[in-house]
Amino acid sequence: MPKTDQQLLVIFGASGDLTARKLIPALYNLYKEKQLSKHFAILGVSRSFLTDDEFRDKVIHNSEFFKDENTSEIPTDFTDRIFYQDIGDQYDTSYAELGERIEDLGTTFQCKENIIFYLSTPPSLFEAIAKNLTAQGLNNEKNGWKRLIVEKPFGYSLETAKALNKGLHRYFKESQIYRIDHYLGKETVQNVLVTRFANSIFEPLWNRNYIHHVEITNAESGGVGKRGGYYDKSGALRDMFQSHLLQLVALIVMEPPLSADAEEIRNEKLKALKSLRLMTTDEELEANTIRAQYVKSEVATEDVKGYREEEGVDENSKTETFAAVKFFVDNWRWADVPFYVRTAKRMPTKVTEVVIHFKSPHHQIFKNSSINKDNKLIIRIQPDEGILVKFGVKVPGQGFKVERGNLDFYYSSLKGSYVMEAYERLLFDAMQGDATLFASALEVEASWRFVDPILEYWKKPDVPVYGYSAGVWGPKNADDLIEGTHMWRNPGAQLAEDPGFCIIK
Ligand code: BG6
Repeated sequence: MPKTDQQLLVIFGASGDLTARKLIPALYNLYKEKQLSKHFAILGVSRSFLTDDEFRDKVIHNSEFFKDENTSEIPTDFTDRIFYQDIGDQYDTSYAELGERIEDLGTTFQCKENIIFYLSTPPSLFEAIAKNLTAQGLNNEKNGWKRLIVEKPFGYSLETAKALNKGLHRYFKESQIYRIDHYLGKETVQNVLVTRFANSIFEPLWNRNYIHHVEITNAESGGVGKRGGYYDKSGALRDMFQSHLLQLVALIVMEPPLSADAEEIRNEKLKALKSLRLMTTDEELEANTIRAQYVKSEVATEDVKGYREEEGVDENSKTETFAAVKFFVDNWRWADVPFYVRTAKRMPTKVTEVVIHFKSPHHQIFKNSSINKDNKLIIRIQPDEGILVKFGVKVPGQGFKVERGNLDFYYSSLKGSYVMEAYERLLFDAMQGDATLFASALEVEASWRFVDPILEYWKKPDVPVYGYSAGVWGPKNADDLIEGTHMWRNPGAQLAEDPGFCIIK
């Protein structure tokens, strides 16, 4: 892999936990893998008053990530590249000082032409930061390049996402903006493209003629933890579905791109997102969407708080911690194929997987067949990352009794290959100027266009919020979403485990 260019990384919101939890560890790994130029430095910016050393303590010596490492062994060649600068209360003043600090560090590390501004602040500050950087000429690409990485949530609705895009486009060109979606940084998510387009055995079947339905489960065993304040204004649909899961849907739905270039892939993803059928009537929304909240429960003799008792959550909150949506994709490839996507907290285990359910053979000659014999392709995003094909095999003995057999591939078998963590991969790509794994403005808007009517419908007072106990697969009603005799797969912690089996973790 080529090294990144000489560059300065300026992180806004640097005293927030993302910097210590994800960004600095990702940069340290890149450093250890010798991917960073020797002309590289990091400048953390936020409202707290900290010295460079206090900031280094915060993101390295006192960081949870490095707790098992002897931090004194982290080379000073890495730690001495980390600096800190405070900024005005609303990120609206002190830009002249910031500009000078950037100039100084840029001169010291010979990297002032190329700058990434990583916005890890609340989105309400994005436009003001972009405006203030512009006033200092820090968006100017006459010499070198300037890039803006923005964290989610990218908007709160279609209208706010559009306003955010418009606001950023006043100061930075779309080609300078990298909207981060950490799911796209996951190897297994990227592997959806490879599975589909580097093999000739799946793609011919990847359509309505052979696929019965598509199921995506994203489950977390944890609750909202300390993020109740944020989560209560967001909910599962905004937090996971609009961003990460619709990006995953786009990779499954999209047409083959002309090449693996960023623009080609992003264009196809956009077309895919635009082809999701919007649900407009209350009847459709009632029949195809379900929301729920975890309630106070006991799991393995331990009491688990209900969502409404979590810190920062309104005691009458109707915010969903479980969301399930059934939808269709209006194009030639996918007409009439139902997609079922669910996401939730406090499920039996932490797992994300895509299941492609193939149609049954058109003519059954083995009379004792059951739905279990239908072929499934399971793409396991996490954990126990891998791919499993379920297919019918003959049970030894008299007659033709058919059971499911497994053909499997596990990432863990790829010994010796270095797998980058999502943030590491995405930071590396942004540093290289590769936008393939970042969402474009139009993709984000297309996702909100689909999600908005559901959110509007859920605002209605008579739309139910079901309850579910921690450690179960959501409310019973979610089972009714799936047509016919099919059921959610309810995956186990391990890829090849039987559905329904689960350890509470
Ligand atoms: C974040 C959400 O974007 O993704 C969190 O805000 C969620 O609520 C997290 O827990 C899940 O990410 P992962 O990589 O652990 O599946």
